[in-house]
Amino acid sequence: MKLLVVGGGGREHAIIRSLKKNPDVTEIYALPGNGGIAADATCVNISATDIDGIVAFAKENPVDYAVVAPDDPLVLGCVDRLEEIGVPCFGPRANAAIIEGSKAFAKNLMKKYGIPTAAYEIFNDLQAALDYLQTAPIPTVIKADGLALGKGVIIAQTREEALQAVTDMMANAKFGKSGSTVVIEEFLTGPEVSVLAFTDGRTVKPMVSSMDHKRAGDGDTGLNTGGMGTVAPNPYYTEEIAKLCMETIFRPTIRAMKKEKRTFKGCLYFGLMLTPNGPKVIEYNCRFGDPETQVVLPLLKSDLLTVMMACTNGTLAKTPVRFQKKHACCVIKASKGYPESYKKGYKLSMSARAAAHTYVAGAKLVDGKLVTSGGRVTGTTAVRSSLEDAIEAAYRLSAGVKFANAYSRSDIGQRALQAKK
Ligand code: AMP
Ligand code: GLY
Repeated sequence: MKLLVVGGGGREHAIIRSLKKNPDVTEIYALPGNGGIAADATCVNISATDIDGIVAFAKENPVDYAVVAPDDPLVLGCVDRLEEIGVPCFGPRANAAIIEGSKAFAKNLMKKYGIPTAAYEIFNDLQAALDYLQTAPIPTVIKADGLALGKGVIIAQTREEALQAVTDMMANAKFGKSGSTVVIEEFLTGPEVSVLAFTDGRTVKPMVSSMDHKRAGDGDTGLNTGGMGTVAPNPYYTEEIAKLCMETIFRPTIRAMKKEKRTFKGCLYFGLMLTPNGPKVIEYNCRFGDPETQVVLPLLKSDLLTVMMACTNGTLAKTPVRFQKKHACCVIKASKGYPESYKKGYKLSMSARAAAHTYVAGAKLVDGKLVTSGGRVTGTTAVRSSLEDAIEAAYRLSAGVKFANAYSRSDIGQRALQAKK
């Protein structure tokens, strides 16, 4: 079988490594892939948002199945366009990807179907938003409606900060068109859990839970990033909570999307907060998380391609999705300065042992040698029988990944370890 994978980060590297385990897979094209992915797939220099380019490539190079991994091509209708030329895909169509593409849509969906989430108001008008903020409870949370690379969320600790954030988004177009509509919502507290779930639009099968570390610095300090490391499973997510989430969040969401004639097929990411009043949805993503995928897929016992195709074909109910009862930890190495400005172009070297456990996110090949090309450069994952051992092994393996100006958090998994104790 020939496969096409759209995307080029650590998440896509993890997906490709898992897909390759299926002996029927003979070729994987990664569009665009990256310098590290090139060791596992044929990289083609077509951007993940160049939908015309992707479709033209698939016409000239017939593939049996495509996996569209990042949010922007999904929201832009990459799956719809590939399906039109007869390529079956893993991933939602544009009309379902809106669950991530518009936070206003997601909030209204949850309200309509009684799915627990933070109380909120939606504004298209700056003055109305400013007026509302005069009496809104503080802290408050301000979110740009559209995609904003995970940066469109401001937790305002003071009224002034809140007024500034809304002005930046709505009047100063800080997030471009994504911020012309804003959601202002209730500030929630509690541990956060990421749950990725396979769904064929009717059946939903959650994967093992995980915990992201979004802030740049140790002790959850500094700026928000795409994620500096992950562990799975998440110790806060007990079996009892999992059951409750299935009944109050996962199934109702899938049913709601079907009812709205926006059947969601693919991976639906539930960003949850376990509040004192029960689990609530913080965000939906229409795709696998990054770097959640780098700890979840290494624990998957079932064949990834088989499960993905069951989501496409509507046969997920009778397809087993099993995970190892072990622990995984992923440590990201980033370029110093990320998520703001950073230098790139440094030589990246990996010991053979480290390379076997490392997913490359931001590196390209120059004269056959890897050099850094992004903020997050690598993610190194270890799977062990205990969380403690997985953390220790991930850091030990990560030491075999070297480039100038590298930085990692030193406390990935520590909060999870404390929660277990
Ligand atoms: P998001 O991009 O929606 O995942 O938001 C980024 C981060 O902001 C989340 O991971 C949470 O830590 C935080 N956050 C988002 N919404 C809320 C909320 N309503 N209350 C408290 N924290 C929030
Ligand atoms: N790691 C968070 C995300 O993928 O959105």
